[in-house]
This record gives sequence, C-alpha cells and structure tokens, in this order.
Amino acid sequence: MPITSAQVRLQKVIARSGLASRRAAETLIQEGRVTVNGKTVTVLGTCIDPNRDHVKVNGRHLKTQPPDIFLMLHKPGGYVSTMNDPLDRPTIADLLETGSIRTFPVGRLDSDSEGLLLLTNNGDIAQACLHPRNHVNKTYLVKIKGSLDNEDMTKLKNGLLLEDGPTAPAHVRRIRQTEANSWIEMTISEGRNHQVKRMLDCVGHPVIKLKRVKFGPLALGDLPIGASRYLSDEEANALRTLLHRHPSSRSRNQIGPRPSKRNPHRPRKQRT
Ligand code: URA
Repeated sequence: MPITSAQVRLQKVIARSGLASRRAAETLIQEGRVTVNGKTVTVLGTCIDPNRDHVKVNGRHLKTQPPDIFLMLHKPGGYVSTMNDPLDRPTIADLLETGSIRTFPVGRLDSDSEGLLLLTNNGDIAQACLHPRNHVNKTYLVKIKGSLDNEDMTKLKNGLLLEDGPTAPAHVRRIRQTEANSWIEMTISEGRNHQVKRMLDCVGHPVIKLKRVKFGPLALGDLPIGASRYLSDEEANALRTLLHRHPSSRSRNQIGPRPSKRNPHRPRKQRT
C-alpha cells in the first residue's frame, strides 16, 4: 500500500521508535551516531521521510512504527461493524476507501445502530478505549417505545441487573415525546453487547432507533451519515491520554502524545 511522502524531524522519528527520548535522540544526532541513507546527520531539525529514508543509530537499523491513523465514521444502519464479513453482509469497509482498510473498528455498533464509530491502527489505544477500567463514556440518542417514567429513570440511573451482571449507573435524559414513542439521551461507561437495548428492554421500553453521538472525548457533530473523517491532532491526543491513565497498558508508544499522521488514503466523504 503506497504511503505518500511525509517529512518528520529526525529526532522525532528516533523517539517514536521507542529507542530514546526526544532529548536523548538529539544528543545521538549531535554526537554523529545517526545516519540517514548512509550519511551521518548531525544537524538537529533535519527532516526525513520515515517511510523511505533508512535511519541507522549506532550502525543499527531503526525499527519504525507506522503512523497512527484515527478515523471517525458515521455508521449508517444496515452495516456490520467489521472490515470483513464471512456472511457477505455490507460492512463498514464498504464505506471507506481501500487504503483505510488497515484500520479496525474500536468496539462495535449493532448492525441496525448508527452513529460514531472510531477506527484506528493503534491496538494499544483501541484496547485502552475499550478497557472497563478506563470508563470511557458512550452517549446515545435513543428512540424508545413509550416513555420513561420516574421509576424507570431511577432504575436506569441506579444500574440494573442484566443476565451478565449488574450494570453501572447510566445517565439518562428525556428529550422529546411523541404519541407512542419518545427520544432519550443515555450515557453508559461500559460496552457490553447490546447493552443499551437490554437495559431499556429491562424497564419495558424496547429500542426503536439507536444512534451513538459521543465516544469518550469524541463527538459525532455534523458528520454526514456514511461519511468519515480523520481525527484532529487534538482529538487524537485526547484519546492518547487514556494510555497515561493506566501506563501499564502502554507499550506501543513510549514517548508521549504526538500528532496523528494523516492517512494518505482519504476516506470517502459520503456514501450516496
Ligand atoms: N448498545 C446497544 O444495544 N447497541 C449498540 O449498537 C450500542 C450500544
């Protein structure tokens, strides 16, 4: 898969490899211990293309990591949250340019659910987003049958007993009521299978429509349905802070927040 040219400061490339901190990488360069394509480089701030240039430190090839890719997809209903489906159903891969296929979804939305789905190639961050101890909040707009009375609200807010154990408290807000149905906003910090549907079933209000509008620090905003976009550096770094909460889960990148690299394979803007 071709990766277009991206110039990055040499000390940053060395630091990203995990070999040394940014400061220590600068010292290595100044001491003449770094070569790029066979030539010693001692000038700090020299930019290279990590995908094309060969960097050696103390005569040994630097193992580089691919840049992080973070995509936000507005998943429509009718697509399964995998890149490959053995049953040949429409998948989220159908909504992305082929170059984005090396990313994978962080968790899933049911096939009939829509909304914010994060995709990345960074397994550590994906794991941190999904790990229960990180309590990453997920907010859903939900159309339900009937409307929640105060007793239902209290049950949801206190947590319910489902067949796989008690749920953590949910934040629930009534939004709008129609004759037979209503819309609520519900935020949960867990990510069990069909959790929102099961919680609402439990209080007697089956889900008619479910759309995820927030995932941790990310908000779907006005991203059109079927469209995807790269996260901003700010959004990507907000996700990276999850790794700092529990440093033991952090192995891929040991040098702190860094700006996300744009995937040259642009995601399709909108499916028509
Ligand atoms: N909860 C559900 O029940 N379904 C989803 O798709 C997401 C959360």
